[in-house]
Amino acid sequence: MMKTKHVVDLADLSHEELIEIIHLANSIKEHPEDYSDACRGKILATLFYEPSTRTQMSFKTAMLRLGGSIIGFDNPQNSSVSKGESLKDTITVVGGYADIIAIRHPLEGTAAAAAMYSASPVINAGDGGHLHPTQTLTDVVTLYNEMGRLENLTIGLCGDLKNGRTVHSLIKTMSTFKGNRFVLISTAELTVPQYIKDIINSSECGYVEIPSLADAMPLLDVLYMTRIQRERFASEEEYRRQNGVFVLDKDKLKGAKKSMRILHPLPRVDEIDVEVDYDDRAKYFIQTVYGMYGRMALIMKMLESGDRTPSPRIMPTHHYRCCNPKCITASEKYLPAVFREAGGDMLLCRYCDGRTLI
Ligand code: NCD
Repeated sequence: MMKTKHVVDLADLSHEELIEIIHLANSIKEHPEDYSDACRGKILATLFYEPSTRTQMSFKTAMLRLGGSIIGFDNPQNSSVSKGESLKDTITVVGGYADIIAIRHPLEGTAAAAAMYSASPVINAGDGGHLHPTQTLTDVVTLYNEMGRLENLTIGLCGDLKNGRTVHSLIKTMSTFKGNRFVLISTAELTVPQYIKDIINSSECGYVEIPSLADAMPLLDVLYMTRIQRERFASEEEYRRQNGVFVLDKDKLKGAKKSMRILHPLPRVDEIDVEVDYDDRAKYFIQTVYGMYGRMALIMKMLESGDRTPSPRIMPTHHYRCCNPKCITASEKYLPAVFREAGGDMLLCRYCDGRTLI
């Protein structure tokens, strides 16, 4: 049985639990018929406050393939959210209907907030630019199968490292495995947030920042390409200045190892040329299939305990509010201010991990 009830961050799982889920995903992939009734009678709610193709469909397919059922919305305008219902109320109600909830929201820290009010287990399916643990699960199932290991890898991450939540989640998880090295390939404006660099620095892994994809290429065991996150830019002009800087094409691949693997959380815009799809190193489509099996395994494990007790009330730890304007606490004002002390004058928001100076 898993120790955590909710999965807001993949770090909520121990290494042993993560490896167990990868093995279960592989077993489901090998013998899907053995699992087709594993969640019979159970209901998954997908609450998607932000557009999604893969993640939402992959969650739904995962539950259907386990014999369970699905409810939910993919456009909050069709739900009571459009009448002004708070996250707390929506989650309290849905947590009473469904056995498990997958939530995606444009604001950072939403999944942590949802977990406070849901009687059923909550899975973070993406909270703004913050985290995306089930994409990381997808990525680690892919790496485990395609590379044969999760350790001693040189992993290049290229594109929008600032706003790409999949990048943040992946670095967080892979920095807990020994011997990994990160090569951060981005413009100066789109480098990873400081808190992610701090996580690498406090791990046994290291990173280098290289502004050129061609220069980085020969070093890499894995290249994780990402799109520029248009919807998270203040203006179209700012987006246009960043888009198209890094494009992977056949020519650039000439400098790569034969054994390198190319991953991408998708959707792709124009950062990978279509020609690359036909290269044996391209694994981004098979990655989506691994993701579905990973989510099947995760749902199965999370439903094992059957825990449906409402979470205890959480009280504020400080009188300050988080100063990240994209934090869920900025719009849902009833949420208790909960911080971790980070030394000196620094507080870290329990919802979005943002820093607040006092
Ligand atoms: C990613 C996301 O939503 O963060 N997509 C996904 O879940 N597969 C990546 C992206 O939108 O760029």
